[in-house]
Amino acid sequence: MRILLAGGAGYIGSHVALVLLEAGHDVLVVDDFSNSAHAAIDRVQHLTDRTVELIECDLSDLATSRAALRDQEFDAVIHLAGLKAVGESVAEPARYYRTNLTATLNLLEIMAEHGVNRLVFSSSATVYAPAAEGVENLDESQPAGHGITNPYGWTKAMNEQIIRDIQVSRPELEAVLLRYFNPVGAHPSGRIGEDPSGIPNNLMPFVAQVAIGRRERLAVFGDEYPTHDGTGVRDYIHVMDLAEGHLAALDHLRPGVATYNLGTGVGQSVFDVVRAFSDASGREIPHGVVAPRAGDVARAVADPSKANRELDWKAKRSFADACRDTWTWQSQNPNGYTGG
Ligand code: UD1
Repeated sequence: MRILLAGGAGYIGSHVALVLLEAGHDVLVVDDFSNSAHAAIDRVQHLTDRTVELIECDLSDLATSRAALRDQEFDAVIHLAGLKAVGESVAEPARYYRTNLTATLNLLEIMAEHGVNRLVFSSSATVYAPAAEGVENLDESQPAGHGITNPYGWTKAMNEQIIRDIQVSRPELEAVLLRYFNPVGAHPSGRIGEDPSGIPNNLMPFVAQVAIGRRERLAVFGDEYPTHDGTGVRDYIHVMDLAEGHLAALDHLRPGVATYNLGTGVGQSVFDVVRAFSDASGREIPHGVVAPRAGDVARAVADPSKANRELDWKAKRSFADACRDTWTWQSQNPNGYTGG
């Protein structure tokens, strides 16, 4: 198939592009490079020895996007384009709603104009309400779309709803909503990986920057949660496993909207992450406990059995693999794509 990969130059998008190319698909990346690098695409081409077609445009601008895509043919859309910084979304909610919702509406419109019915959407475990007492791992039947603590998370829940409603009006639409848990790791070559701008919000890139000496010390956000060591527990999934989940979703599309968790089913605490990364890198990770971060939950771990069963997909890589590959990326590219 020829796949339109919206947001294909970003951290997750570049790994999805690589996996699609290696599976024999053609890839048309649409990206505005607001938070991504051309070098990521260059390196994907180099790693796969394939050509990625690229259109640089902002999908929240309908007229420009429509014109840019007018002569393009594609069989399916994988939509990962959007703004994703939680703190920034609290400070600039209108920009988050405008960008993230409009891009989805515009893509759906352009798909209809091109007669394209296949869509894989990048959603997030952030759409789940905090787990009720007694619930260990979250499956897709858990309540979602309320109790979300920031506009970024709301845009994911609202985009899910937009896709469901449009599917009702266009029953031929075949959509999959992928709820990512916490993507980490990098391609094992160390050539592509996560390159956050500014101070990383997320744990893994922050830990990696402490290990390389770019940041002094990790602030652990709270150690009194009801977890095995008091720190927050998350389901960290290797980005290559996540990328393969998109390929599996593409292969299992059928009319309707299906929702799948992409996670491992295994939880790691912040202290577990510090220990594993220290082992992988051979470096000390200086850290100290500070107050909990507003909006954080104690535990968010997937029950991935629906995706395992119905998509014939499973996260295969270990957390140690993810730490090793993050370290390879971080140590070969200490300043990301731009630092040389
Ligand atoms: C966060 C977002 C979520 C988003 C996801 C994207 C919040 C409340 N949630 O998830 O909406 O989809 O990123 O990847 O921001 N931690 C520290 N010190 C740090 C950073 C994190 O102790 O400097 C802890 C957190 O408290 C948490 C764990 O590490 O327990 C993971 O944090 P993070 O990587 O930010 O992911 P989430 O909070 O799960």
